[in-house]
Amino acid sequence: MPSSIHHVLVSLLICVLWTEPTIAIKQSYIVYLGSHSHGPDPSSFDIESATNSHYDLLGSYLGSTEKAKEAIFYSYNKNINGFAAILDEDEAAEVAKNPNVISIFLNKKHKLQTTHSWDFLRLKSNGGIRKDSIWKRSFGEDIIIGNIDTGVWPESKSFSDEGMGPIPKKWHGICQVDKQNQDKFFCNRKLIGARYFYKGFLASPSGGKGLHSVSFNSARDIDGHGTHTLSTAGGNFVANASVFGYGNGTASGGSPKARVVAYKVCWDSCYDADILAGFEAAISDGVDVLSVSLGGDFPVEFYDSSISIGSFHAVANNIIVVAAGGNSGPAPSTVSNLEPWVFTVAASTIDREFTSFVTLGDNKTLKGASLSELELLPNKLYPLITGADVKYDNASSKDALNCEGGTLDPQKAKGKILVCFQVPDDCHFLCRTHKGVEAARVGAVGIILANSDKDSGSGIQADPHVLPSSYVNFIDGSYIFNYINHTKSPVAYISKVTTQLATKPAPFIASFSARGPNLVEPTILKPDITAPGVDIIAAYSENISPSEQEYDKRRTLFNIMSGTSMSCPHVAGLVGLVKSLHPNWSPAAVKSAIMTTATTEDNTGGPILDSFKEKATPFDYGAGHIQPNRVVDPGLVYDLNITDYMNFLCARGYNSSMLRFFYGKPYTCPKSFNLKDFNYPAITILDFKVGQSINVTRTLTNVGSPSTYTAQIQAPPEYVIYVEPKTLSFNQKGEKKEFRVTLTFKLQSKDKSDYVFGKLIWTNGKNYVVGIPIALNNPH
Ligand SMILES: *[C@@H]1O[C@H](CO)[C@@H](O)[C@H](O)[C@H]1NC(C)=O
Ligand SMILES: *[C@@H]1O[C@H](CO)[C@@H](O)[C@H](O)[C@H]1NC(C)=O
Ligand SMILES: *[C@@H]1O[C@H](CO)[C@@H](O)[C@H](O)[C@H]1NC(C)=O
Ligand SMILES: *[C@@H]1O[C@H](CO)[C@@H](O)[C@H](O)[C@H]1NC(C)=O
Ligand SMILES: *[C@@H]1O[C@H](CO)[C@@H](O)[C@H](O)[C@H]1NC(C)=O
Ligand SMILES: *[C@@H]1O[C@H](CO)[C@@H](O)[C@H](O)[C@H]1NC(C)=O
Ligand SMILES: *[C@@H]1O[C@H](CO)[C@@H](O)[C@H](O)[C@H]1NC(C)=O
Ligand SMILES: *[C@@H]1O[C@H](CO)[C@@H](O)[C@H](O)[C@H]1NC(C)=O
Repeated sequence: MPSSIHHVLVSLLICVLWTEPTIAIKQSYIVYLGSHSHGPDPSSFDIESATNSHYDLLGSYLGSTEKAKEAIFYSYNKNINGFAAILDEDEAAEVAKNPNVISIFLNKKHKLQTTHSWDFLRLKSNGGIRKDSIWKRSFGEDIIIGNIDTGVWPESKSFSDEGMGPIPKKWHGICQVDKQNQDKFFCNRKLIGARYFYKGFLASPSGGKGLHSVSFNSARDIDGHGTHTLSTAGGNFVANASVFGYGNGTASGGSPKARVVAYKVCWDSCYDADILAGFEAAISDGVDVLSVSLGGDFPVEFYDSSISIGSFHAVANNIIVVAAGGNSGPAPSTVSNLEPWVFTVAASTIDREFTSFVTLGDNKTLKGASLSELELLPNKLYPLITGADVKYDNASSKDALNCEGGTLDPQKAKGKILVCFQVPDDCHFLCRTHKGVEAARVGAVGIILANSDKDSGSGIQADPHVLPSSYVNFIDGSYIFNYINHTKSPVAYISKVTTQLATKPAPFIASFSARGPNLVEPTILKPDITAPGVDIIAAYSENISPSEQEYDKRRTLFNIMSGTSMSCPHVAGLVGLVKSLHPNWSPAAVKSAIMTTATTEDNTGGPILDSFKEKATPFDYGAGHIQPNRVVDPGLVYDLNITDYMNFLCARGYNSSMLRFFYGKPYTCPKSFNLKDFNYPAITILDFKVGQSINVTRTLTNVGSPSTYTAQIQAPPEYVIYVEPKTLSFNQKGEKKEFRVTLTFKLQSKDKSDYVFGKLIWTNGKNYVVGIPIALNNPH
């Protein structure tokens, strides 16, 4: 009828005219439901029913199951019960009211965060495997390590299956290859599986933009990150690996004979819905270890995080989840991946540096970092000039000093060495290599990056720039600027890169490594541990240049990278070794073994320092630096199981619906459970008052030979700490003993720091030394 057509038109017009600014925008959401009614081993019928129940539920809001099928892009139908769907805000609000819906979240994005490191970790030396090396006992044979990341470059020699036996029977996964795709992706007996999840990225506000020349339908790594991290965890031995000949040697992962699997969830970013799909697949596929070098920008409550929920289900299925602590250091409370069931890794240096020296016209020589293979002509000094002095008239001095794109005048820069400011906190790898590209583009012959932030510590990284380069610390950078200011014709030379080994002190904490305390739950110490994460050489994607700049046409089979993304897979590789030697240990027992055997000393015998050359604390490194050869036989472990983690969530005040995110059935919280008694391998108490005493309990489980242990306390001067009983005897494997620690704040501190630190060690006086960190607040 005409009138009704008119009505439709008018309403459409009204809609366009009046409601456009607030029109319900379609966004992608993750909808969590209660437990699956099927058990842990669903049949294909169970899985199909679960998916159908998702269609029915959403269909009842959208008008039909057809519409629901269109809207839903993931049905989490195996371990995690829920789905991801495109909905408008009103629909999402309606769905949220359904009694079966526990919660509904926006699909948010997450950031991504060689080979000498295994020598530094004492697995090998002089090219051979050390006598006391854990590698004498295991190469991680038949352990399956999954990596949730940007995919993998399958042709890399690190994933060669030479010498690998048949694929373990426990593997249930697939090698997802799209027949239409010409990219020739493949798996083998080393890289036994790969999957890709992009629907959350497509459904994100960017709608999948930002990808060029790349098909979605492949787990191929076009970024390099995933290849680097996966090969660090489980790459095979590759002789004669190097970046431009630097750092040459045998490359390998921590578990060189493990099987590896790539779950590609990161495209331009990594979205929640894809991450969760990756976790769910990994659980069903039968992986033993998951390496997750991802994190959000801000810490979020556990029920609000796909990584928290995915990792909880993984741990409940006996998978050990290792995650990066993040690169937002050195400010306090920057660490992310804060769940007690996750193994969270900080980043520190190894005893190798890639150095290029800057020599100035006054004969002063300064030590910087570089991994550029290009060299200046020898025995020649080049004019030295700052970015600000070669700026275009229309550019600001500040931008030009930072050598930002389009600010530098080639007429002024040509043939000179350019000095550029480098603000470490808001300018990471890509930004640094971009400055190199800018310098090369305007005809500079070399670039010196000068760390411009005295509060960022001495952190400098060796980057594969497209021209001769050196990255110098704040003090040396200031010297260079001062020299330029006070010299008529400043000149300089940048030396060829040299590799320095056995550098001291090492390790020290990387300035970028994110720091505790834990913003979500301060009584759980985070990060848990530190491992090598600066200037790490590992396999790389041949799709991209080592500087990750388009301008750069170089390709390398191996590349150097820094970040907690690099330290995380070192720990994942170590976990693979422990798991292969102790298949029955729980994820918490493996984590405890690695934490209680960690060291807080560096290679000078002094305490591990931070990048300011000050003594580092458990908020920098958790329990300390990994010592792989000690991990196999820790003596005692602080164990935890799923009941403990549920009690932990109870103690955080989670109500029954929040608990259902995590647990497959209703969970009744215990009447009394104190977070202080949560059996974590660290004691962190932050609510002390002057004169107050607090008791905490812990339980040790024997995994070693029969021994009698005594407690040793290193108490901070402000506290008195007693342990009761003071000795514990263990006769059998699996035997458990509880002890109590009484901490009393006795003395107002002269020290104005917010926290003080100590250590509790149980030792049999011989081979077993079981240490945990203590972090206490410092009332003043
Ligand atoms: C090692 O690698 C370098 C650079 O890639 C190459 O020039 C050299 O021939 C290789 N040596 C061996 C023994 O394979
Ligand atoms: C690395 O290269 C240097 C220089 O070519 C050579 O002396 C050294 O033996 C190589 N090291 C390894 C482990 O191949
Ligand atoms: C730098 O050292 C060279 C060689 O030792 C010497 O000839 C030159 O005079 C020195 N220059 C300055 C400024 O000290
Ligand atoms: C600044 O001037 C240069 C050279 O004239 C020009 O190429 C560039 O586009 C200008 N930049 C801006 C932001 O106007
Ligand atoms: C060098 O001079 C510039 C201005 O020309 C000034 O901003 C800077 O602080 C000076 N640096 C040093 C180290 O003297
Ligand atoms: C977890 O360990 C506690 C003892 O520490 C035990 O009471 C509980 O039954 C265990 N839970 C599971 C699920 O094994
Ligand atoms: C649990 O808490 C959430 C958030 O405060 C609330 O929305 C929900 O209704 C609560 N559920 C129960 C069963 O109390
Ligand atoms: C700590 O435990 C001991 C022994 O049970 C008890 O005597 C003491 O009162 C407790 N202290 C506190 C502060 O609860």
